[in-house]
Amino acid sequence: MSKPIDRTHKERRTGLRFMLTYVKPHRSTFMLIFICTLLGISADLLQPYLVKIVIDDVLTKPGHDIRLLFVIGGSYIGLSVLSFVFTYVQDNLLQHVGQNIVVRIRKDLFRHISNLSMSFFDRRPLGALVTNVSSDTETVNQFFTNISLSLMRDGITLLLIIAMMLKLDAVLALYSMILIPVIAGIAIGFRPMLRKTYEQTRLQLSRLISFLAENLAGMNIIQVFHQEKKQLDKYTKLNRLNLEVNFTKHRTTIYFNRTFEFLGNLALAFLVWAGGMAVFNHSLEVGVLFAFITYIRQFFQPIIQITQQWDKLQSATVSMDRLWQVFSIRPEVMDPRLENRKDIVLSDIKGRVDFENVCFGYTDGIDVISNLNLQIKSGEIIGIVGETGAGKSSILNMLGRFYDIRSGSIRIDGIDIRDIPQATLHRIIGFVQQDPHLYSGSILENVRLFNSAIPREEVIQACKFVGLDPFLQRLNQGYDTQLSERGGGLSAGERQLLSLARIVVYQPKLLILDEATAHLDSHTEQMVQNALQHLTTGRTTLVVAHRISTIIDADRIMVMKQGRIVEVGSHQELLARRGYYAMLYKQSLGKNEKKDSVAVSKEKGEGSVLVTC
Ligand SMILES: Nc1ncnc2c1ncn2[C@@H]1O[C@H](COP(=O)(O)OP(=O)(O)O)[C@@H](O)[C@H]1O
Ligand SMILES: [Mg+2]
Repeated sequence: MSKPIDRTHKERRTGLRFMLTYVKPHRSTFMLIFICTLLGISADLLQPYLVKIVIDDVLTKPGHDIRLLFVIGGSYIGLSVLSFVFTYVQDNLLQHVGQNIVVRIRKDLFRHISNLSMSFFDRRPLGALVTNVSSDTETVNQFFTNISLSLMRDGITLLLIIAMMLKLDAVLALYSMILIPVIAGIAIGFRPMLRKTYEQTRLQLSRLISFLAENLAGMNIIQVFHQEKKQLDKYTKLNRLNLEVNFTKHRTTIYFNRTFEFLGNLALAFLVWAGGMAVFNHSLEVGVLFAFITYIRQFFQPIIQITQQWDKLQSATVSMDRLWQVFSIRPEVMDPRLENRKDIVLSDIKGRVDFENVCFGYTDGIDVISNLNLQIKSGEIIGIVGETGAGKSSILNMLGRFYDIRSGSIRIDGIDIRDIPQATLHRIIGFVQQDPHLYSGSILENVRLFNSAIPREEVIQACKFVGLDPFLQRLNQGYDTQLSERGGGLSAGERQLLSLARIVVYQPKLLILDEATAHLDSHTEQMVQNALQHLTTGRTTLVVAHRISTIIDADRIMVMKQGRIVEVGSHQELLARRGYYAMLYKQSLGKNEKKDSVAVSKEKGEGSVLVTC
């Protein structure tokens, strides 16, 4: 049931055809819905015919049989009940299938987006994705539960009415049909206009949501830089545009619908005139005229319905196309093909890492990392230093395979990381970032990442180990405190401790730290350093340090400049070389001296300088 749909050979399909792949498993239910609709409508349309029989065969005929009136009356009620039952069944079935299909699409979409590479998220605004997942799928839901039903029901109604009218009086029926080309012409003429206004409204709404999502996510920056007014102005502008396109859409829709209503009334007037004349001339029975008038009214009803649903269909196809566009994006980072896949036993991983002639860039043409070569022994601790933008984080991103390299290879224990399934790779590597992401949920769940196989006790132990426990003790609900999406309720330092606790719980073979202690005060940082000392023992570790002093104990330090390794060696070796590293170190000492002296003089009121080396 929840098997993802294979899309490899279906890339050229349009949105609508793609959606039909979701309909296929429900074919039999749709068939049942069709039959119920057909029966329901037939029961409805037979009713005016019964009245015709009453008028022509009972009321206007001399010596009429009163019992026939009862029989016909009973049949009329019977038909009403049948129509009710069939419509009820058909409506419920359709809701059931429609909702199920949309649940499935949402699930597939979320899974698909989760598998897309980081480069996709670099390019795609968050809000546009939120629109895709929420409102586009809702429009598709409307399509299945509402639009498709209406199109089917009204289509069948139209055909049956035409059949009934032809049966009653072919000449009058053919006169009524004259209007059909006019109707078709108007519908075709309006089509591009309707489609355009619908695209516009969707586009504006998506822009509005994008703007909102981004601003909510970055509200702190907006406030810090006093950009509230500017952003509000931008929002007001977007809001106004949204309003305008909605007005245009409604105006167009009203024109469209009223035109048809007017046509309907015109047809009715014509029928009353032509039919009335025929009755006077005795060439038409009164009952037939009555049935005709009822049918012609019902004839325009489905046409108006269909055209009203038409614009919804337009927006549904736009949504389907957009969903399809997201679905058709292939992740740049792909899992290995079956024949290349190396199955790895996690416990066998030693943790040797080799970078060989690695070139990498985020955008075409610009290399961020050029020709990187480095062999890291199992259990070795590598410090990475360099100026901002030197490419430190990029190396870690490549190793975690958030991005694929352009050329060369990265191997863990001699296995190319492209041959390791991503899920396995991410179990091998533990990442601690500067701004760890927390999810809505309790602290407990955030540490074990919703993996309930990890016992509570283990989480508590891990938090004690990294020194987070004392902070949590202060909270009313301790480990069960609920965090909001962005980790609200915890300080930046506490969030970082929490992400370290994750590492303790998950015990990855390879540890990657990207400026992981940048948000910590010196006391907490010391605690983290102690915890890290334990964590890094015997575990291959790559540390990007925001302060050189934190990595001087590393086995080797890799010094980076403009995407290249310019020096490698231990702290002492590098200092002795008096090169780029020595200069960076000297600079950082200067910074630390200033920083620490300020801190110390504030706390103790004296000017002694303390630098840990
Ligand atoms: N997602 C991205 N898309 C495009 N360019 C990026 C992206 N991330 C980083 N870069 C660029 O790559 C270069 C190296 O960045 P990074 O590895 O983050 O540096 P560091 O961590 O050493 O400060 C920088 O010039 C940066 O602008
Ligand atoms: Mg960085």
